Formats: sequence, C-alpha cells, structure tokens
Amino acid sequence: MSHPQLVVEQLSKSYSVAGSNVQIIADLTFSVDAGEIVAIVGPSGIGKTTLLKCLTGLQSITSGTAEIHGKPIEGPPEEMALVFQEYTRSLMPWLTVEKNVRLPLHHLRLPAIEADTRVRTALASVGLSQAADRFPWQLSGGMQQRVAIARALAYRPEVLVMDEPFASVDAQTRFELEDLCLKIRDEFGMTIVLVTHDIDEAVYLSDRVVVLGHRPAVVTRSIDVTLPTPRDQITTRALPEFTELRTEIFELIRAGAIPAAPATA
Ligand SMILES: Nc1ncnc2c1ncn2[C@@H]1O[C@H](COP(=O)(O)OP(=O)(O)OP(=O)(O)O)[C@@H](O)[C@H]1O
Ligand SMILES: [Mg+2]
Repeated sequence: MSHPQLVVEQLSKSYSVAGSNVQIIADLTFSVDAGEIVAIVGPSGIGKTTLLKCLTGLQSITSGTAEIHGKPIEGPPEEMALVFQEYTRSLMPWLTVEKNVRLPLHHLRLPAIEADTRVRTALASVGLSQAADRFPWQLSGGMQQRVAIARALAYRPEVLVMDEPFASVDAQTRFELEDLCLKIRDEFGMTIVLVTHDIDEAVYLSDRVVVLGHRPAVVTRSIDVTLPTPRDQITTRALPEFTELRTEIFELIRAGAIPAAPATA
C-alpha cells in the first residue's frame, strides 16, 4: 500500500521586498507517496521554484509545515537530491565527469568500493560510462544534464527533486531524459517531484499533476494520471486520454494565471 513520504500542509511563503511582505504561496496542501512521480505545473512566476526551495530546505517556510517521513524539513534533508535546470552552473568545470558525480558522496563517508560502484552504476544508468574522464565543457548540453542526474542518482536519494530539468535540451534528448526518469524510478524505487513548463511532459511522466494557480499560489487541482504503463513516447502520447489530460491542465493553468499588473504611466 502506498504511504505519503512528503507531506505539505497549509504551507505559506512570503518574501520581504523593499520592506513590505509579498505573499507568494498560501495554505498550500499536497502530499507525495513513496515511489510516485509528481509534476508541479503552473503559470510563470506563480511560485513553483519557491515551493521547491521550501521543500528542499533552501528557503524557510513562513507558516504551515513540510515534512519528510513525518520529520519537519528545516534544512536540506539527507534523503533528497536536487537537479536544477542550469546544469552549466551546477557542474564543476575543473572536475571530470566522474569526479563531479562522486562529489556529494564525500559527505556520506562511504567505503571507497561502495562509492566507486555507485559512481559507475549512476554513469551507466545515464549512458555516460565512456565519458567518465571528460570535463563538463567537453560535453553537449544534454550530456551535461545527464551528469547532473547521475550525480543525484549516485547519492541514491529517496526523493529526487527537479526544477525544469530538461528545459534547455533539444526535443530528442528531452524524450530520452524523460524515459530515463521513468527507468530510474522503476530501478531505484525513487520518488520524483519535478517542476516543468511542458504540459505534455508533465502528463507523460507523472502519476499525478499538481496544478498551481493564483496569487498567492494555491493548488488549483491535483490530477491523477492513469495512463497505462509502461509508457512510450509514441503510443502514450497518441492516446485520447493523453490529449484530454493535456487540454484539462492547459485550461487550468490559463485560469490560474496571475493577472498582468496594470501599466503605469
Ligand atoms: N528571493 C526572492 N525575493 C523576493 N521575491 C522573490 C524571490 N524569489 C522569487 N521571488 C518572487 O516570487 C514569485 C515566484 O517566483 P518563482 O521563481 O518561485 O516562480 P516560478 O513559478 O518558479 O516561475 P518560473 O515558471 O518563471 O520559473 C515571483 O514573483 C518572484 O519575483
Ligand atoms: Mg521557476
């Protein structure tokens, strides 16, 4: 039976801007079960990155709670790993691919053999065994993003959190990375929470899509994606249910958009 791994209750977040408080997120409630893939979507500027920062302990929560296994998240939880969109800024250019992937493992103080195995397995999972001794700047954008994912995999987090991880790669690479996500969830039993702007990607990848809308942001809908598994880029995307879900989510996002500020003279 599934059980909630990540529980967010009544979470609110305000930023202080020029001396006044701006509330970005209000009373947001949702949970993620172990092994689930949940996509978070919503209009630009709604607070998706802010929410991920609260979930990963990089930002404090103004009120409400976020818990992993019933423990309040007060700093970066050991059980989580993060992948950001900007791989160019997240990889160390002076370290080889292998050393980049190994980096977070130092913190775990693993026996050398265990660390070697994890690095090798993670690189193999993303198809980069041959690139271990190269430097990030010698790789294509898609390959660099794979290194960032391999680094998260080697850490073996229970929860992998990703913020628009595939936004800057070409369509073909994007499909490959999406399938990689499905594969690692199946292989490692990992829970995945990702933010994406791509509605098709959200539907294709996830078990559930959480739609954020309005200012301050709330969950406007949580939609179960009951598309058959295993998913396939061609047949799944051609299903009538796929199109229906995509239309429903598109309309929800449009309805929850933040109204543009009135133009000032
Ligand atoms: N550190 C900060 N201080 C003040 N305001 C901030 C800060 N970070 C984000 N904001 C504001 O919070 C709001 C939500 O930003 P956030 O980056 O979370 O949105 P988003 O949904 O991730 O947007 P996008 O889809 O464009 O990535 C924006 O209005 C942004 O200007
Ligand atoms: Mg963002």
